[in-house]
Amino acid sequence: MTAADERLDALHAEIRAHKAAGCGFEPCETCTNMVPGEGPATASVVIVGEAPGAKEDQQGRPFVGNAGRLLDKLLAEAGMERDDVYITNVVKARPPGNRDPRKDEVAHHWPWLERQLELIRPALLVPLGRHALARFAPEARISEVHGTVLEAEGRRLFPLYHPAAALHNPGLREQLVEDARALGRALAP
Ligand code: URA
Repeated sequence: MTAADERLDALHAEIRAHKAAGCGFEPCETCTNMVPGEGPATASVVIVGEAPGAKEDQQGRPFVGNAGRLLDKLLAEAGMERDDVYITNVVKARPPGNRDPRKDEVAHHWPWLERQLELIRPALLVPLGRHALARFAPEARISEVHGTVLEAEGRRLFPLYHPAAALHNPGLREQLVEDARALGRALAP
């Protein structure tokens, strides 16, 4: 295990322990498990979703439900496996009833994501869906920038539609597969 992996593990432990911190923010207090993220500190790609859902909350792991299964297929289309990438969310605790996270909750969780990105320093960051995209490039529209490389605030982004949105929308699913292949090409040396 590299020193960076150890630092990332320590950060994960800090996030998990936060549930008992009594911070007063609803998702941190009502969740079953905090969901820090997972993957190697050496990953050149970081995938960022919005917030954990019910399955993720139960298991303490990101993208382990239906959207996660589709994400695994998309990674395969891009020529990668789940273990090659680091996967996390903007918000590390499930908002009750899967409601959208509030602004102050996002701000409360944001420093953890910044520390994760600081440790991993990915070549490419993949925000999933318009909510995650808005945290990195507030002016960008997912309908215009999905499947393309975008530079924002010193970061190289490759936004994709959120896999959950494509689960019941075959057109969006086709687009996501096409964009995942474009991601593979963008990563090719
Ligand atoms: N949707 C997300 O945005 N993140 C998860 O971890 C699961 C579903």
